[in-house]
Amino acid sequence: MKLGAIPGGARGWGVFSKHMLTRGAACRRGGRLLVACRGLGLWHYFRWVVHAAVVAYGFYASYGEGLIVKVSIMVMRRYFVFENMDKNHGVMLDEVLHARHTVRAFSPTELKKEDVEQIIKAGLVAPYAALPVAGKPNFRKFFVIQGNSPIKEKMKAIIVAKFPAHAESFEKSYGPTPFSKMLKEGGMKMANALLDKPCIILSGERWGVPAIAPESLSFCQENMWLKATTLKIGFQLLSVVSSMKLGNDKEFCQLLNIKPGEYYLDGIALGYPAANFKPAPVKYPDIESSLKWL
Ligand SMILES: Cc1cc2nc3c(=O)[nH]c(=O)nc-3n(C[C@H](O)[C@H](O)[C@H](O)COP(=O)(O)O)c2cc1C
Repeated sequence: MKLGAIPGGARGWGVFSKHMLTRGAACRRGGRLLVACRGLGLWHYFRWVVHAAVVAYGFYASYGEGLIVKVSIMVMRRYFVFENMDKNHGVMLDEVLHARHTVRAFSPTELKKEDVEQIIKAGLVAPYAALPVAGKPNFRKFFVIQGNSPIKEKMKAIIVAKFPAHAESFEKSYGPTPFSKMLKEGGMKMANALLDKPCIILSGERWGVPAIAPESLSFCQENMWLKATTLKIGFQLLSVVSSMKLGNDKEFCQLLNIKPGEYYLDGIALGYPAANFKPAPVKYPDIESSLKWL
């Protein structure tokens, strides 16, 4: 029997299956399955199911398991939202949420490239404001500065040179707050030490309209933070990168090869926690004082 001759609405699949079934003995078995189904009079009821199975089998025989797994994940994502979630995921997630902390002292040990990439992949699946970046590729970018990369000194020089003006303009905008006092008094030391971390990641989110790139990037960074926690890698936000508006700075953007003003930039430090590091005690808000059911 010629599979291309499958009648009616199934013709499209038939041509497809025919193509797939020309590949190897494994596929011929798929063909026999079709014939058997027709022989048993089941064809009318099951032809779509059988066709889908044969096409999948053809793919499997032709391209191996990897593709089938990818296609299955795509189908799962399309038709089932939370199908593979169970109670254990919630328990594990709670553990990760409570284990997450800001780490501010790092061991000099370099991170494995694949761990850094896993953290970035977690950032890539974070939600993003889709309309502002519609039709714009590369709306999320990451720049990794690991170890003694020569770019570090160039970045440091830019940050240190611009820091006094940054502290001054902060005080002008917000007045003599504790934060502006900290910027003026301890800021230069902080600026000098800012990049002295085992690994720095500058994350960029493309600006659009409305200008909500910072919100998008926060989701991204939280994903990265949680992933880093599962890998026992310490994480520190370096919000001076965003508050100094380094994404608008011509010299700084030149180092990253991006156009000034195109991306909102923020920074994080990653590294294994130093041996003597203890997270700062934190008092999180409690549910009683934070929640109001309306
Ligand atoms: C928007 C934002 C900016 C932050 N910037 C910094 C920063 O520049 N440096 C730093 O060490 N921590 C920074 N933090 C971390 C907070 O200080 C920290 O999350 C908070 O004290 C609670 O501690 P925890 O992270 O250990 O739960 C920032 C946090 C947020 C949400």
